[in-house]
Amino acid sequence: MRNHIFIEDKIRSFNKKIKVSSDKSISIRSILLASQAVGISKISNLLESEDVLNTLQTIRKLGIDYKKKGNDYFIEGFGLNGFNIKKKTTINAGNSGTLARLILGLLVKCKYRVKLIGDKSLSKRDFSRVIKPLRLFGANITSKNNLLPIEILGTDFLRPIKYKENIGSAQVKSCLILAALNTSGVSVINSKLSRNHTELMLKFLKYPIKVKKNNTYELISLKGQNQFKCFNYNVPGDISSASFFIVLTLLSTKARIIIENVNINQSRTGIIHILNKMGADIQVKRKKNYNGELIANIHVKSKRNFKAINCLPKMNSSAIDEFLIIFLVAAKANGISKFKNLSEMNKKESKRLDLGIKFLRSIGIKVKRFKDDINIYGNPNLILTKKYEMKDFLKDHRIFFLSCITALTLGGKWKINDKDSINSSFPNFLKILTKMGAKIN
Ligand code: S3P
Repeated sequence: MRNHIFIEDKIRSFNKKIKVSSDKSISIRSILLASQAVGISKISNLLESEDVLNTLQTIRKLGIDYKKKGNDYFIEGFGLNGFNIKKKTTINAGNSGTLARLILGLLVKCKYRVKLIGDKSLSKRDFSRVIKPLRLFGANITSKNNLLPIEILGTDFLRPIKYKENIGSAQVKSCLILAALNTSGVSVINSKLSRNHTELMLKFLKYPIKVKKNNTYELISLKGQNQFKCFNYNVPGDISSASFFIVLTLLSTKARIIIENVNINQSRTGIIHILNKMGADIQVKRKKNYNGELIANIHVKSKRNFKAINCLPKMNSSAIDEFLIIFLVAAKANGISKFKNLSEMNKKESKRLDLGIKFLRSIGIKVKRFKDDINIYGNPNLILTKKYEMKDFLKDHRIFFLSCITALTLGGKWKINDKDSINSSFPNFLKILTKMGAKIN
């Protein structure tokens, strides 16, 4: 089957109301927590992407059953550590760093050795960030060079930990929270700020978790081994998926969009603050609480002029998955935009910082790099007319999306390979674009 697309025309002006796919981080967490609850949980609007389907397959392999009826998934849990693990179990996290890191947290007590594997991209990613603290709990973990495959054998003699998490990784923080759930005694995790969906979901479930936050760190303490009951959960839209439509609208001519029911948790809305600082007028309306999270409709209008930005590193964690698409706005801005301390971008599904810079240079934008800091020399008159081909990006979904939005807003004749990469987070991406009038062959 053909696995590439061609985009040879810019998108025409549009005025649309859309919904993007459900949030990936929240979908994965809702399944994992349902697998530890007592009884049958119901999850509505679950994102049906590969990363999430791999999460469902994973809990099934660990002895937790689920069924789908209509738009809802029903997951039957047997309480904390209620997995029924067979000898020689192998679980496959596919492309998902979130699944791989979080599931290890839930396996600190497993009776038999479980082997964790993943796809080519995940197998290049470093797991020392979770292996090191999980060993402090007492779990036995083996791996070569901290890469997949990893084998984990749990213990009944888990010790609560005190740990300082200095990366600002929600995957690490959440992995440790899940491990702490299974550990008697109080674990304390002092974590550099990152997305806080796990904490909010546990609060929604009335789990005794305490969180004290300052400007840079979050001090989390939780007492393990409190059972919690099954729950109903409705997953909101994903701001990371919405980000591509926000920028599509901003960089198009006479365009407007309303994106409905998007999660606007402030640990995720860096893109809105950054783009508004650059001169966009992105408005967030009809805010409401939704299972302990905040959702809203996002209103965007196209814009002709953007200012360069000096992006403060304190914005990094709340925009970490959106920098690629923010760089595209910086490429069209008036002046030199500066971004700092972006090393974490190179730890994602691909080396996104390296590939992002290569991408910008390939469309004629000057970029200066100083280790993990970059300066993007914007060109407000940037118009593309040449032929471009995107390949060899390790099937990183966000690089695929970036290429499509660039083609649709700046022009050029594009061949974009690895179309199937969209399945990890946003399988409807091309369908929504087509409905909005994009010509994609
Ligand atoms: C995620 C956390 C982030 C993010 C990833 C999803 C999560 O990764 O980049 O796409 O769901 O916890 P890090 O925790 O490694 O920063």
